[in-house]
Amino acid sequence: ADVENIEQDLRGKKVLISAGGTREAIDPVRYIANRSSGKMGYALAKRALARGAEVTLVTGPTKLTPPAGVTTYEIQTAAELEEAMLTHYAKQDIVIMAAAVADYRVKTVAEQKIKKNAETWQLELVKNPDILKRLGELKREQVLVGFAAETTDLLAHATKKLQQKNADLLVANDVSRKDIGFGADDNEAWLLTRKNAPKATGKLKKTQLADLILSSALQLRGES
Ligand code: CTP
Ligand code: CA
Repeated sequence: ADVENIEQDLRGKKVLISAGGTREAIDPVRYIANRSSGKMGYALAKRALARGAEVTLVTGPTKLTPPAGVTTYEIQTAAELEEAMLTHYAKQDIVIMAAAVADYRVKTVAEQKIKKNAETWQLELVKNPDILKRLGELKREQVLVGFAAETTDLLAHATKKLQQKNADLLVANDVSRKDIGFGADDNEAWLLTRKNAPKATGKLKKTQLADLILSSALQLRGES
């Protein structure tokens, strides 16, 4: 029933969402990727649109179709994602970094396909920019939402990320669980804010969690 919810509480609001995983090229035929399906980010875009927002989606490669009515930009690398987010950031009300950004990229992308000569091969990687952190530094009126994917010490790591990236809301999930998170239709998370104690959401459909995240962000904006 949540999908039919026609409450237009995001009318007039601009919402920018990143989704999916980034890809970092190794050579013309190979890349480094991660397990993100894009489902959580697309659920956020769909629900924000249904609630009346003007939605911009910046997405890595996924098997999903962006909801009609959402302005969508397709990116591959973390550098392209950063550029797109920075281009659209200033005029947003709510910005959500749901993308699984590659932490490292290949230092030198080979122009030709690398041949399999040696028995071992070491790839040199360099750190990618932390996009959420950058957005946190540039933040003005926007409510900034990040995610934390953890396999241990969920709340401790997520609390650190909330602070270090200057986010207003952090959605923390345990990605070691098979029934939730990567690729699944369900998710269960902790919502962390600067003022209140962390709140467990319980197991929800990703669209329901999306609604909860959007409601929390709207509340933080002080206009709900
Ligand atoms: N993120 C980002 N830019 C990066 C890496 C992450 O914007 N280069 C964002 C993600 O979109 C997410 C949040 O930061 O909203 C946390 O991502 P996560 O991978 O959990 O944390 P990291 O800071 O990358 O730390 P680590 O992977 O070491 O746990
Ligand atoms: Ca990371």
